[in-house]
Amino acid sequence: MAERETWATRVGFVLAAVGSAVGLGNIWRFPFQVGENGGAAFLVVYLVFVGVVGLSVLLAELVVGRSARQSPVEAFAELAQGVWEHLGWLFVATAFILLSYYTVVAGWIARYAVEGMRSGYPSSVEAADAQFAAAATGVDAVVFHGMFMAATVVVVGLGLRCGVELAAKVTLPVLVVLLVALAVYVSDMSGAETAYSYYLSPDFGEVAANWKEILPAAAGQAFFTLSLGMGVMITYASYIEKDEKIVRDGAAIVALDSFIAVLVGLIVFPILFTAGMPPAEPGHGAVFVSLASAFGSVPMGGGLGTVFFATVVLAALLSTVGLMEVVVSHILDYEGVERTVAAGGVGLTLFVVGIPAASSLVVVDFYDLFVNRVLLVVGALLLSVYVGWRLSNEAAGVVSRGTGGFDGFGRLWLWTLRVPVILVLVVVLGFGVADYVGLVQDIAETFVSP
Ligand code: PHE
Repeated sequence: MAERETWATRVGFVLAAVGSAVGLGNIWRFPFQVGENGGAAFLVVYLVFVGVVGLSVLLAELVVGRSARQSPVEAFAELAQGVWEHLGWLFVATAFILLSYYTVVAGWIARYAVEGMRSGYPSSVEAADAQFAAAATGVDAVVFHGMFMAATVVVVGLGLRCGVELAAKVTLPVLVVLLVALAVYVSDMSGAETAYSYYLSPDFGEVAANWKEILPAAAGQAFFTLSLGMGVMITYASYIEKDEKIVRDGAAIVALDSFIAVLVGLIVFPILFTAGMPPAEPGHGAVFVSLASAFGSVPMGGGLGTVFFATVVLAALLSTVGLMEVVVSHILDYEGVERTVAAGGVGLTLFVVGIPAASSLVVVDFYDLFVNRVLLVVGALLLSVYVGWRLSNEAAGVVSRGTGGFDGFGRLWLWTLRVPVILVLVVVLGFGVADYVGLVQDIAETFVSP
């Protein structure tokens, strides 16, 4: 087996992990989750989730990666016994499926960025609908999906330090500067005041009344946004040196990812409110339609939209890089092939597997709900059971060392993972499976009905 690569710097590791975490989840999914689930009330529940459940599971992934120093499949094979040995396969499979359609959606966004530069965005919803249909189906969608996959292959192929780490170090600061500039710019818009009160003053009566929707949505969003349940964090942690402080790193990853999600809300809602668009438009396509037509109706919308969609493209690229690294690192650990060949082969296969998603929105929904509501939660649940109850004291020891020897924190984390996190995940999985079955039934009915 070839000598395992390591990160050049600890900051490089944190930035790469943040780069994986910040992606379509923060910029595309987050605002419409907030919109669908009642605004500020959702934001509060979500932040609590990310801070407690998200951080606990993130630390579990970091512990596994750092202890084994191997990609997920090999990590579980080495650390675990019995059926647990095979857990890594679930992560690699989930990463594979997610990546196959994530690049499709990222491709739509790349096209929106180009479109904004070329011709701006239409202000009417009908025209925005047509624009979305053109971006999301047909040859163009496949071409943009292919280009995005190719860019991912290039970064991963360049290696851990010169590709993944460098890309994160360069891209993230640019992303933050652009987003802060956009948030400041839109704060002057006429709808900004209303948007802020919608987004920032929670009504807890709303949480109590709608907890059945809000809770699973907040949990799903928390896992997705932190790239959990897919082995990305295990893989990235497998490249760090033994002595690193993982609790501080984990907290930094959660804090930066949440900061960017909240910042995006401060951009999207003022624009939507100024354009008079409803913030609660559900669904994957609708968010493109309402955002694009909102950009089409505000002053300087073409330029703003281009910058906004371009930042999304950058963020998405760092996420696809993380996902591909899960699959590639497995091949490198196991098969001993060249990194460039592994990345190229994985990219080509995924391009082909993603073509149905690039051809139909229904397929994207079908994959997305399956990954988010089922696979990702199953992955996080099994990981928590394994780390909490099997690896248990050994894991707590790693976490305690990660705090500089504060034993109390390791125990607190272990018990959080063992009981509350597992209970929450079981409940969330129940809701998720029900949602998914509902979607499959809807799709079946559409095909059966004349
Ligand atoms: N965290 C990424 C986002 O928010 C998505 C992702 C999930 C990436 C899982 C990698 C693994 O868009």
